[in-house]
Amino acid sequence: MSAPELGGRDGFTSKFGILCAAAGSAVGLGNIWRFPYVVGESGGAAFLLIYLGLVVLLGIPVMLSELLIGRRGQRNAFGSFRLLAPGKKWWLVGVMGIAAAFMILAFYSTIAGWTLEYLIKAFSNSFSGKSSDELGAMFQVFHTQAFRPLVWQVIFMAMTAGIILGGVRKGIEKYTKVLMPFLVVLLLIMAIRALTLPGAMGGLSFLFKPDFSEINSRVFLSALGQAFFSLSIGMGTLITYGSYINKKNNLNNIAIEVSVVDTLIAILAGVAIFPAVFAFGLDPAEGPGLIFHVLPNIFQQMPGGYFFAVIFFLLLVIAALTSSISILEVVVAYLVEELKIVRSKATLLATVAALFVGLFCTLSFGALKDVTLGSLSIFGVLDFTASNILLPLGGLFIVLFVGWYLKDSDVKDELSNGGLLKLKIYRLFRFVLRFIAPVAIAIVFMHSIGLI
Ligand code: PHE
Repeated sequence: MSAPELGGRDGFTSKFGILCAAAGSAVGLGNIWRFPYVVGESGGAAFLLIYLGLVVLLGIPVMLSELLIGRRGQRNAFGSFRLLAPGKKWWLVGVMGIAAAFMILAFYSTIAGWTLEYLIKAFSNSFSGKSSDELGAMFQVFHTQAFRPLVWQVIFMAMTAGIILGGVRKGIEKYTKVLMPFLVVLLLIMAIRALTLPGAMGGLSFLFKPDFSEINSRVFLSALGQAFFSLSIGMGTLITYGSYINKKNNLNNIAIEVSVVDTLIAILAGVAIFPAVFAFGLDPAEGPGLIFHVLPNIFQQMPGGYFFAVIFFLLLVIAALTSSISILEVVVAYLVEELKIVRSKATLLATVAALFVGLFCTLSFGALKDVTLGSLSIFGVLDFTASNILLPLGGLFIVLFVGWYLKDSDVKDELSNGGLLKLKIYRLFRFVLRFIAPVAIAIVFMHSIGLI
């Protein structure tokens, strides 16, 4: 791709690079850490069914809308709205996205830090010979202390900032292109291993045999939050990445392919984790610590466990990095393009600010665990506010913007690359954007706060 096509902006250089970067953003701790523990807390297969429905009904349309806004606006999340809707307040959606990006980075780096600790623990063979209780205690001791989790969090954010400093072409694309396919292969190996454990079937029926008595409005809201979080939508990540995409690429295909890959990897993670949880008689509903408690247990009780443990935690760090760079990029692109701060300074500024909030989040599992709002810790508040409120609300405004504010001819023009592509289900897409998606998000919201 030649630079002038993007008006001189830095951009992705190949179709495969775009797919890797967007899928790299989507696939992360959300699939491998968050998905299993939320599924575990929400009763299993019935949640999964709702989740899948929401990905198709809302996820793909919101993702396509974001890519469209970004490529049409050729700016960051804030700037694209301001450019496409001059003199209007739509840029507030961009501001909300930047706020969500900060909150997510804060707790994302906490969990990514735990993953780095567990990678080192795996390397040094720390799981071997320990009972389930001892492994549980090991996680308890580690994640409630102050110093080590904080150090890992700082290291993880430094790694994220390092990649972002390289810029889009040299940074994001180069890393994700290699790392993404690697990740899929590793997860497949894990899933195959888990499925061959004795007792694996219990986990499969937990994941795939729905019990509808488990469904209530709280389950719907957490499925909605999980879908948006996992697909990286609702806060402008894909507006930002969309602005780096070449005018010749087919946005429709990117949205569908990324959503399918992200969902398959979440299910693959479920297939790797739940059969093992059941095979060893552990509790699927134990919360954010689930994979850190359950997996070492599995690894140390299976042949080749040392090897699998190292691979798995390496995989998780890689997945977390390709996502965290996409979150940081939302903030950095805004600072660079709107506030005219040079890229290196913008990266440093955003990293330090996110780390500042992040430190409180990390400490909320130990020293600050009594600082709560309702029943939620600082981590819980950040996660709930960002994932279950800001992202779906951002998604709501994004579909309203594309469905009602943008001119039909402009939307068509952008999606068809100026009339070059045939749009097969455009009318359906438009209908979903204007009516189905906004109503569905509104209903889930109002139901969960008790309005209907
Ligand atoms: N989707 C990423 C994951 O699954 C997290 C993320 C959320 C990234 C929001 C960007 C925006 O880990």
